[in-house]
This record gives sequence, structure tokens and C-alpha cells, in this order.
Amino acid sequence: MKSRSMLLGLTAAAAFFGPPSFADSPPADDARPDRSREFATPPPDEAQAKATLLRDILTEMRHSQDDGGDGAVARNQHAKHHGAVRATFAVADGLPEGLRVGIFREPRSYDAVLRFSNGRARVDNVPDAHGLAIKILGVEGKPLLDDPADAGTQDFVLIDHPVFFATDPTNLVRVEAARKALERGEQVDITPIREQIAIARAFPKLGTPSPLEMTYFSTVPSRLGARAVKYRASPSPDNASGLPPLTKASSVDALREAMVARLSTNREPARFDFQLLLQQDEQAMPIEDPTVEWTTTPITVATITINPQAFTGAEQLEFAENLSYTPWHGIEEHRPIGGINRVRKDIYQAGSAFRHDANGAPRKEPTVADLDRLYQCEAAEGR
Ligand code: HEM
Repeated sequence: MKSRSMLLGLTAAAAFFGPPSFADSPPADDARPDRSREFATPPPDEAQAKATLLRDILTEMRHSQDDGGDGAVARNQHAKHHGAVRATFAVADGLPEGLRVGIFREPRSYDAVLRFSNGRARVDNVPDAHGLAIKILGVEGKPLLDDPADAGTQDFVLIDHPVFFATDPTNLVRVEAARKALERGEQVDITPIREQIAIARAFPKLGTPSPLEMTYFSTVPSRLGARAVKYRASPSPDNASGLPPLTKASSVDALREAMVARLSTNREPARFDFQLLLQQDEQAMPIEDPTVEWTTTPITVATITINPQAFTGAEQLEFAENLSYTPWHGIEEHRPIGGINRVRKDIYQAGSAFRHDANGAPRKEPTVADLDRLYQCEAAEGR
């Protein structure tokens, strides 16, 4: 067995999320449970995995509080944002009967606020994953969370990669432990998690010059009534900035600068198609393993329009900082499913509560009145 092992150490930590390939690796011993449908009851190790993930995240947040210059606590992940912008989320007319569920029930336009972020990096000129968090306001229906401060919104939390790197919470704990051990310069046998590491290494990207030109995915599924779907946000070709690809020589704030150039300086709108990836084959599109891409034709169910606006004023940046996104902000018809989503419920709530408490910031969902006060958007019809 030893000869099949893959021992990594020292410089491997830096390469963990970098390019090397595992093409020569032997196949994994695949004694996995059937992951095609949502588990009727969570596996027995899931609660322990959630506790470990939560403990580690809160510990890191406490340390960041001690280390931080002004004591402010940021998100544990996706801390650096490029801005929160006001948008409209217009549900398409004439959707097939089976898709007219929850917020897609009727053609109408919702107010929305979008937060664009880096995954880990505090600078934009290094390879990283990128996030797009969408919050739709004025949503009616049975909220998934109990606290009234969390009601009235539907969030979609997306990244610029079609799959997640861990199969489930226990697997994620293993991958995270390996990453941290490698960062400490220790030798790690990565044989059992080599597939997940290969995916993690494909996450960081450098090149796309604007967050408005990236394609974003939920990677994990949700219900759509009785069906299961994943989400995708696809940029309009008109969003193309013509800017040169990002390199290590680019500005540390290049991604925010690209958004400012388009939305604030050039006063041009940006649009995304919001799309559903329907689960059509349970085996090929499993619920309980988000490392598997659902390759199916995306169905556009809404158009997101970001009209020209200024969004980098001090109060707007603070608003972006204090927003809370979670896949569990939403209504029953869009319930997130699968192990990764199950553990995210308490983790996102606890992380958000911790940083808001530490920063003395009120934690409640924004209203349209908040957006009216903070943003002056130009109508961009006909552009
Ligand atoms: C169990 C797996 C995961 C854990 C433990 C985790 C953890 C976290 C935490 C702690 C935050 C900050 C929450 C806050 O303070 O408000 C966060 C934010 C975020 N996560 Fe995850 N995450 C997981 C899975 C995912 C997945 C599958 C995606 C893919 C779409 C994702 C995308 C994001 C994004 C885009 C944000 C930033 C949201 C914002 O702009 O506020 N995460 N995550």
C-alpha cells in the first residue's frame, strides 16, 4: 500500500491549490454509499464533521480578531469583496409549468443586491476562486430559518467553478486537515483524497479581468419543489470589458477597478442570465456528491441587470461588509439539499453572528428602503 501512497510535504503546501496533475494516480478504492438521492437521514459522522468545521472556523475568526489591526472581524471565507451592487432580478415570462415554483412562480421583477468576492485572497492579482452572492428582496413564502431577522430574502451563493472539491462534510474535514498540515510543512499522505485535491487545485484562476465576465455556479443542489436543481449565473457577452487578462503584475484591486470602470465611470449596465441545471439522471447527477458536475443544458429563468451606479462609497462598502449570505436565506420551495448544504446552515449562521457581534454591527436582512437610501441607479433601458 505504501508504494501507492502519495506523500507530499514542504513546497507542496503552496502547490495545494496550484496546477500539478494527478493523471498518473491509481484509481481510488470506491466503496461509497449511493449518493444519487438525498439521504433520508444524515450519515452518523456528519454531526461530528460539522462540529469540527465550525470549531475551526470560529477559532480562526477569534485569531483574526486578535491579529487584526483594528480588531474588526471579517468573514472566514470570501472576506475580500469587490463591492455590493444593487440589481434587478427579473423572472422570465412563459416558463414551463414545472419550473414555475417559489420565486419563479410568475414573471416579475425583484430588487436584489449582489456581493462579488475573492475566495481566499486579499489581493486580486493572484490565482483564486471568486464568489457571486445574490440576495433577492421582498420574497414571500415559508422561510427556512426561524429568526424573523433572516426572513424575506432568497439568497443564491455561487462560485466561478462548476463543482465543489469535497464530496461531503467528513471528506471536507480530511481535505482541510491535509491542507493545514501541508501549510505547516508536514508530510501528508494524500492518497485517499487525491481526487478532491485535484479539484481544489483547479479552483484558483487568474486571468478574467472583471467579475462581471465570470460564470458562477452553486456547485451544490437545492430543491425546486419536488425536483432538484443546481444554479448558474452566466454573464452576457455584452459585459466584456476589453481589458487585458489579469496577471501578477495587475493591480491588487483590479477586479473592483474593472467593476467601477464599467458601472460607475463608463456608466454601462451589466447583465447575467440566471439559469437552472435540472437533475435529469440520479446516477449521473447525484445529490450527495457535489464533486460531480451536472452536465445538462442550462435553462434561463431570470435576467439579472446591474444598472450603472456608484458602489464604493464608505457607507456602501460597510454595507457590503455587514451583509450576510447563506443558502438557507430562502423559502421552503428552494430548500438546499445534500450534506455540504446541511452543515452550511449552522456554520454560516454562527460565522455571521460572531462577526456581527464582534464588530457591534446589527444583523438583519436588508430592505428595499435600505437599497433606496444607499444606491442611486440609473435606468439603462435601451443600452
Ligand atoms: C461545508 C462547506 C462550506 C463551508 C464550511 C463554508 C464556509 C463559509 C463561511 C464561514 C462563509 C462566511 C459566512 C459569513 O460570515 O457570513 C462562507 C461564505 C461564502 N461561501 Fe462558503 N462554505 C462552504 C461551502 C461553500 C460552497 C459549496 C460554495 C459554492 C458556491 C461556497 C461559496 C461561498 C461564497 C460565495 C461565500 C461569500 C458569501 C458572501 O458574499 O457573503 N461555500 N462560506
